[in-house]
Amino acid sequence: MKISKLHKNIGVSIEGIDLKSINDKDFERIQNLWIENLIIVFPNQNISDEDHIAFGKKFGELEIHPSLSHRSSKNSEIYRVSNVDEEGKIIPDKQTSWQYLKQSWLWHTDSSFRNIPSNGSILHGIITTKKGGNTLFANMYSAYNDLDSSLKEEIKQLKVVHDHDYIINLSKELSKKKDKGNYDKLSPVVHPLVRKHPLTNKPSLFLSPHTMVKIKDYDEVEGRKLLDKLTEHSIQEKYVYKHVWSDDDILMWDNRCTMHSVEPFNNNSVKRIMHRVTLVGDQEPKRA
Ligand code: OGA
Ligand code: MN
Repeated sequence: MKISKLHKNIGVSIEGIDLKSINDKDFERIQNLWIENLIIVFPNQNISDEDHIAFGKKFGELEIHPSLSHRSSKNSEIYRVSNVDEEGKIIPDKQTSWQYLKQSWLWHTDSSFRNIPSNGSILHGIITTKKGGNTLFANMYSAYNDLDSSLKEEIKQLKVVHDHDYIINLSKELSKKKDKGNYDKLSPVVHPLVRKHPLTNKPSLFLSPHTMVKIKDYDEVEGRKLLDKLTEHSIQEKYVYKHVWSDDDILMWDNRCTMHSVEPFNNNSVKRIMHRVTLVGDQEPKRA
């Protein structure tokens, strides 16, 4: 394995292995590198969805995404992050399924709307973009660490209400539509604002602006201001790695200590096809 750093603060790339056939020793090494570096890029992995699923299952069970229209018709574990339908046609801007997906352009953490959010996600760039469509990842350990100590103490006590349907409310287009899409019903959940990673025991900010409805038992306006301020703080360049995609990159990230967003691209004329598998979480986020 050839390992190189992506950013001084976050991420490594691993070359010289084939994700279709990794031995136990290499797998253990990958797991350790993932926990230490938060994200891993594996370039040049021309693998099928079935191989992608098999690689994901080495880490544990896989989620089925609540949005029915984004599941691959062949494999329900594959979440299609794409502006192209399964017949290869670009999905028009006005279509509900695209409007939902476009919300991934906002900063978020995958499946923060679940009571037990996902441990991590593994994304295969099948057709990637040359202009725009890069993915940004923030190191939420560092973002937390650099806050001043009084703010750290204050926010450690706080809890945030997260709701899947807030993603829809935030969309200018979807919030006005009658047909908002077809999703498994999920109730709002409450998570700590500062969480402790179960493997490293380190605290990190747990933000997911696309599902954060409010801070629990807190003035709504002040709560929103605080969440916005923490989000702005976390997305400063010093905490963020920008991944510029090449076809057949596989990128995996830890949802317990990062958040991400997608840079806009010209979705009406350029095709972007990404397939994701999502690792089921093993416990509710614990307060730091
Ligand atoms: C995701 C997502 C990233 C991307 O797959 O979870 O937010 O680059 N998309 O499309
Ligand atoms: Mn995402």
